[in-house]
Amino acid sequence: MKILLIGSGAREHALAHSLAADPATTSLVVAPGNPGTGRIARNVAVDALSPDAVADLAREVAADLVVIGPEAPLVAGVADAVRAAGIAVFGPNGDAATLEGSKAFAKEVMAAAAVPTAMAHVCQTMDEVTDALDAFGPPYVVKDDGLAAGKGVVVTEDRTAALDHARACVSRSRRSSVVIEEFLDGPEISLFCLSDGQTVVPLAPAQDFKRLGDGDTGPNTGGMGAYSPLPWAPEGLVDEVVERVALPTVRELARRGTPFVGLLYCGLALTSRGLRVVEFNARFGDPETQVVLARLESSLATALHAAATGSLDQLPDLRWSADAAVTVVLAAHGYPGQVRNGDRIDGAEAAEALDGVHVLHAGTATNAEGALVAAGGRVLSVVGVGADIADARNAAYAGVEKIQLDGAQFRTDIAANI
Ligand code: AMP
Ligand code: GLY
Repeated sequence: MKILLIGSGAREHALAHSLAADPATTSLVVAPGNPGTGRIARNVAVDALSPDAVADLAREVAADLVVIGPEAPLVAGVADAVRAAGIAVFGPNGDAATLEGSKAFAKEVMAAAAVPTAMAHVCQTMDEVTDALDAFGPPYVVKDDGLAAGKGVVVTEDRTAALDHARACVSRSRRSSVVIEEFLDGPEISLFCLSDGQTVVPLAPAQDFKRLGDGDTGPNTGGMGAYSPLPWAPEGLVDEVVERVALPTVRELARRGTPFVGLLYCGLALTSRGLRVVEFNARFGDPETQVVLARLESSLATALHAAATGSLDQLPDLRWSADAAVTVVLAAHGYPGQVRNGDRIDGAEAAEALDGVHVLHAGTATNAEGALVAAGGRVLSVVGVGADIADARNAAYAGVEKIQLDGAQFRTDIAANI
């Protein structure tokens, strides 16, 4: 199978890592890719947000399967264009990707499908915001309706901070909405489900660490670390999510004539009152993908192709390693605000040489002297694999210790005390 993978983050490096090692893959092109994917596949420059450019590239490389990593190309309609060209694509069309692109739309679909989620008010004016904040009380949950790379949500006890964020969201454009939600207590998990528009196949669950600082302090980020499996998860959790969340959502989208083909990311809170959806994404999560795929033993290419071609019901059961995986994200100075780029990265090879450690690239580049430098917010994902979470965590942090990056930020408590 000839595969074209779109994206350039550590999630795409993880996908490329699995696809490149997969006997079902005969060739792998990553567009635009990063220095890490360039070592295991052919990187080709492309404007990933241009539906025509991606469809042209898919034809040019005679792709049997196109896999779209990030949300922005999905929302921009890249999958629509590739599908229209008659090429199998793993990733939903733009209308189905609105499940991630608009939190208000996601709420509407969940209400129609009776999927358990936080109660919410979609507000257009500050008067509506004030009423909603009063109705729910603290802690306040304020969400930008649109895409914000994991940074559009503020959860705070501070009413002024809640109002400030809401004001920024509604003033962004005349049609902007802000979603005010009830606060959900309890641990969060991420469950990825492959969907072919009808059948759903869950992957292994993972947990993500969203806040920048140790002890879940500081601003929300795209994700600073993750681990899988979840030894503490209640028995039957995955089945419950499939039955109560993923299948009803996939059926509702099919009923509307906008089938969801790709990865339905279910972000869930296990609250004192039961399971609730925190968010949906229309793509693999980052950094959870780095730990989920580290444990997948079955052919990823075959599974993604089955989803893209409506044949998930014929896919043999996925096999998972009993090992655990932990990933720690190294972010650039200033992330998630204004980041400083160009700092040199040393020691990635030394980290890779350790047992059970691999290093995935995100915001990296090669400078004029051929040195690896930081070129983005999240720079590297260091993955450790071991017999249990503690072993995997030790491996990941041993890898992190080998890497030097001026001003690097990383959490020291990823998967601690699990
Ligand atoms: P989202 O982009 O909707 O996933 O929100 C980002 C993060 O904000 C989530 O992973 C949670 O940690 C937090 N969050 C979002 N919604 C809620 C909520 N209703 N209650 C508590 N925390 C939330
Ligand atoms: N790690 C959270 C996300 O991918 O949205």
